[in-house]
Amino acid sequence: MTTTPELGRWDGLLAARTRGEVGDGIAFVLAFLGVPDLISFAGGFPDPETFPRERVSTLFQELAASGEATAFQYAPTRGLAGLLDALAGRLETLQGRRPADDELLITSGAIEALELVAKSFLDPGDVVVVEGPTYLGSIQAFRGFEATLVVVGMDEHGLDVEDLQRRLAGGLRPKLVYSIPDHQNPAGVSLDAERRTLLVELAQHYGFLIVEDVAYRELSFSDGSLPSLWSLAPDVVVQTGTTSKTFFPGVRLGWAVGPADISARLVSAKQNTDQCAGALGQRLFEESLRRGWIDEQLVLSRALYRRKCARMLGALERWMPDGAHWTQPEGGFFSWLTLPDGADSVDVARLAAERGVGIVPGTLFFPDGRGADTVRLSFSMVAEPQIDDGIERLAALLATSAAERAGTETMRTRMDHGWSS
Ligand SMILES: Cc1ncc(COP(=O)(O)O)c(C=O)c1O
Repeated sequence: MTTTPELGRWDGLLAARTRGEVGDGIAFVLAFLGVPDLISFAGGFPDPETFPRERVSTLFQELAASGEATAFQYAPTRGLAGLLDALAGRLETLQGRRPADDELLITSGAIEALELVAKSFLDPGDVVVVEGPTYLGSIQAFRGFEATLVVVGMDEHGLDVEDLQRRLAGGLRPKLVYSIPDHQNPAGVSLDAERRTLLVELAQHYGFLIVEDVAYRELSFSDGSLPSLWSLAPDVVVQTGTTSKTFFPGVRLGWAVGPADISARLVSAKQNTDQCAGALGQRLFEESLRRGWIDEQLVLSRALYRRKCARMLGALERWMPDGAHWTQPEGGFFSWLTLPDGADSVDVARLAAERGVGIVPGTLFFPDGRGADTVRLSFSMVAEPQIDDGIERLAALLATSAAERAGTETMRTRMDHGWSS
């Protein structure tokens, strides 16, 4: 499947920073949406079952009937006062710190918050540390401003902060360190408590800004959560959040919270991107928050995703061939599958699509070509009864490819030893 537009005629006019970059990243994932009958573990999309259709319909009618103009009008760049107040209250409840009025702004999705941070901080060649693997939208946002991306690895406890510490001691000087500490996209792991403390200490010591992405923080499968980086060190963290997974992505709404002087920069950067996030979505989300509907939706969403995850992990356990292993998510949408020796994830993704299964090759989640033996599996949107079938088909494909590789290997060895006649 290709999502790459034809290049040619306009090549010479393109900005140097976009030449050769035709955005096959997120577009690759979105393209899977249109394929009929595909069992898709590809997109990180919320299950439509969680969409609050009736409540949104009620709110629309109320807003239209009330004579209120706010929902239909341009909004202040920082966001509508009512939503800022409701969101500040929510951050206080969930993360133990209420931002001041000049620390919070509403964005058009978290992706815009990342874009605004990149636009405000990055000159060509500036170093941004990202987790390996990481959210591909962030790779695109930082690349868009010509940053040099440096990958620091992860394990089952999240970003390898000790390795970051060694590299900082060795002279690495990033402007930004981007992390998704909770139920990471794509790895499905969370940053442990000690590493959180060390990471913010490193930021304070070396003077970089942490960009903390909390896209999946509220989608834990159990109660309780570790402190957010922003709550630990609001002086060195800008946190980006989204309503896409807790409300619905159709409103394209998110936020950024951080030190007041950074927040002012982001507001100013937003003035010449979209000027303000859509007021209608802001009012819908504010009302849903105030009425307790978001919390009710979250109870259902978390239970649904917990069930789907358990089903996918069970299927992986049952069918995956030897040599494959995967992460054990405790929230969010994803598990990260490492393929058996020698398998190539781009080939596997192509063959899987031919067999009606959508997956995303791991290489998309690294800025430097790594990840060839890994795959992201998203359990969030695939219909529950299809999970077993999809994983069984993928496992069968991997087993066949492994057998074929072993056959080729035997043949090659024989030829190397002059055994073939
Ligand atoms: C880690 C992460 N950050 C940010 C986003 C973007 O969120 P939004 O829909 O608000 O732009 C996503 C969406 O998939 C994500 O996975």
